[in-house]
Amino acid sequence: MSTPLLQVEHLRVTYRVARRKVVAVQDASFVARRGRCLGIAGESGSGKSSLARAILALEDQVSGKVLFDGQDVLRQTRAARREFRRRAQMVFQDPLGSLNPRLKVGAALGEVLRVHKIADSRADVQAQIARWLTTVGLDPAYADRFPHELSGGQRQRVNIARALCVGAEFLVADEPVSALDVSVQAQILNLLQTLQADCGITWVLIGHDLAVMRHMADDLLIMQAGEIVESGPAAQILENPQHPYTRALLASASHLESAQNGL
Ligand SMILES: Nc1ncnc2c1ncn2[C@@H]1O[C@H](COP(=O)(O)OP(=O)(O)OP(=O)(O)O)[C@@H](O)[C@H]1O
Ligand SMILES: [Mg+2]
Repeated sequence: MSTPLLQVEHLRVTYRVARRKVVAVQDASFVARRGRCLGIAGESGSGKSSLARAILALEDQVSGKVLFDGQDVLRQTRAARREFRRRAQMVFQDPLGSLNPRLKVGAALGEVLRVHKIADSRADVQAQIARWLTTVGLDPAYADRFPHELSGGQRQRVNIARALCVGAEFLVADEPVSALDVSVQAQILNLLQTLQADCGITWVLIGHDLAVMRHMADDLLIMQAGEIVESGPAAQILENPQHPYTRALLASASHLESAQNGL
């Protein structure tokens, strides 16, 4: 069996707030298997985003180990960090806020293609932009549009294209659909699932919705107050939850579903 793409050991993330130390993530250990989707669920404030940022080396006050393809990302040389920034990418909740309002879609993609030296000639950049817009389900003509000229779902498609066009292998999606209309949420999740299969992407999906996790995640972590209280194959956890907190989350999810169905 191949080694996991990401291996996290005893990760701890803290923040300093007015001289007080807030522990956002405590002693987290888990792996993300290659080509799979790892779901992270838990209530608001349980540390999901802090964990996500820490594994992408975007947090300062972090201890423990984050091994990406065997290399410790918390103790990297500058050159290794640059390469890691290309291979591991993030997609955020707010699709508009993640895009520069003054850059047209094509320019936003072109910028990262040049920074990471994926394409340099003008023709090559244009070809890559068209290819990636098509891959995420947008007409290449969208290269000429500004972010405000797109719908929320289209913007999130651009964000996904921008993350993956540099040859990323690992994607962390932090509540990628919760700011979108319910009608387009499934389309974006399906796109991510297709990219997982077609491009062999390993990804982390953060969210509250356990029904979505059942559909998307191969493995699942349940977080409560900064700790991973349950982890394992998603189907197993959702069918047969062991921890009382997971049971409570599942119970509240099914109540919500019944309420939505008018039952
Ligand atoms: N930049 C920060 N400065 C100080 N405290 C923070 C910061 N970011 C997060 N926290 C605190 O760390 C804890 C975990 O927050 P985090 O945002 O990781 O949770 P979350 O599970 O992503 O929540 P949500 O579902 O609402 O996005 C919370 O107590 C939060 O208040
Ligand atoms: Mg969050």
